[in-house]
Amino acid sequence: MDAIDVIVTKRDGRELSAEQIDWVVDAYTRGVVADEQMSALAMAILLNGMNRREIAGWTQAMIRSGTRMDWSSLPGRTTDKHSTGGVGDKITLPLAPLVAACGGYVPQLSGRGLGHTGGTLDKLESIPGWRAYLSPEGMLGVLGEAGAVICAAGDGLAPADKKLYALRDVTGTVESIPLIASSIMSKKIAEGTGALVLDVKVGSGAFMKTVEQARELAATMVELGADAGVSTVALLTAMDRPLGLTVGNALEVTESVEVLAGGGPADVVELTVLMAHEMLRAAGLSGGKDPERALKDGSAMDAWRRMIVAQGGDPDAPLPRAAETLEVTAPASGVLSRLDAYGVGLAAWRLGAGRERKEDPVSFGAGITLHAKPGDPVREGQPLMTLHADDAGRFERALAALEGAYAVGETADADLLPLVIDR
Ligand code: URA
Repeated sequence: MDAIDVIVTKRDGRELSAEQIDWVVDAYTRGVVADEQMSALAMAILLNGMNRREIAGWTQAMIRSGTRMDWSSLPGRTTDKHSTGGVGDKITLPLAPLVAACGGYVPQLSGRGLGHTGGTLDKLESIPGWRAYLSPEGMLGVLGEAGAVICAAGDGLAPADKKLYALRDVTGTVESIPLIASSIMSKKIAEGTGALVLDVKVGSGAFMKTVEQARELAATMVELGADAGVSTVALLTAMDRPLGLTVGNALEVTESVEVLAGGGPADVVELTVLMAHEMLRAAGLSGGKDPERALKDGSAMDAWRRMIVAQGGDPDAPLPRAAETLEVTAPASGVLSRLDAYGVGLAAWRLGAGRERKEDPVSFGAGITLHAKPGDPVREGQPLMTLHADDAGRFERALAALEGAYAVGETADADLLPLVIDR
């Protein structure tokens, strides 16, 4: 077998055999297939697609490139979630301890911010002392103590994906449904969860801009999960405007703690509770403690505190705050008709909440607090949002990102997506 033969097969629009897929994924992981050959193959896949059999084979080959985690020693069932990424999407933070409080075990491997989208690990690292890197034994210990763990994937988990994802990031080959689906599902299946709920985001702030694309990605991932024996459900949810009222690392932790204390913005609460029900149902754990009750009676907050402490964090420590703030005010009176997720995410990124280069640190305090959401009445001159940055020099480029990203009219835009589009 050689790499050119595999590349030419896909370049010419033909189906890759199981042997070709197994060989090329393994040879790439071992460094036998070069980056330039894999990037040519990734582009051929992006342009010509893969059928269901090929995607399943590709996913299995990526899982086999590393180790598969095993939680069978836990006394209960595992269930997890994955979001395809968005702006202000902090749902994992309240959701993992909430599901733990209702009887599930949540072994969540998370990632860092990518472009204008935030990352769960960056958010949690704003808590003083909190550690993202745990050994498999360390993960098991936190799961046993708190019922939920949120940490970084170790090097042994789907190493083929780690290498391929970095290559796709710099070769214009991220936006391929077969490659995205196999990338996400290889990690989630290798993570060893028994059940999985996928939150596939749709809109300007998401990878999938249209409902049709999101539906195809969701269906592909659900099939991959089912093939691997993981009970998998997908929701399509709105990412045409930011989720909640905060965008940025420490700001989003504060909002998540508000949700765990029984408050928080309505959209974050609705999605957190809905996802908790789905995760429990997918694991066959419905009928236990009700998630709404666990938010009200403090048991979800207790699980959060146990989880943070077990990972070295101090849940009572003050969170980092940015030194400088700037208010953006409403240009007229009326209704906030639009608040574009991509524009707000880009502005938060430029304020320092995300990275410019992959080795850069993030600013924990940077980001945006929203004072109105689409559909809310506003008065001319009223604050619409507060920008937070460590350095006031960042405001100019953030304001440029917000140009055209919000509008005041008579009513909310008619094409605003419902929060939950489909299941
Ligand atoms: N997230 C992933 O893990 N992989 C992709 O390909 C895209 C988003």
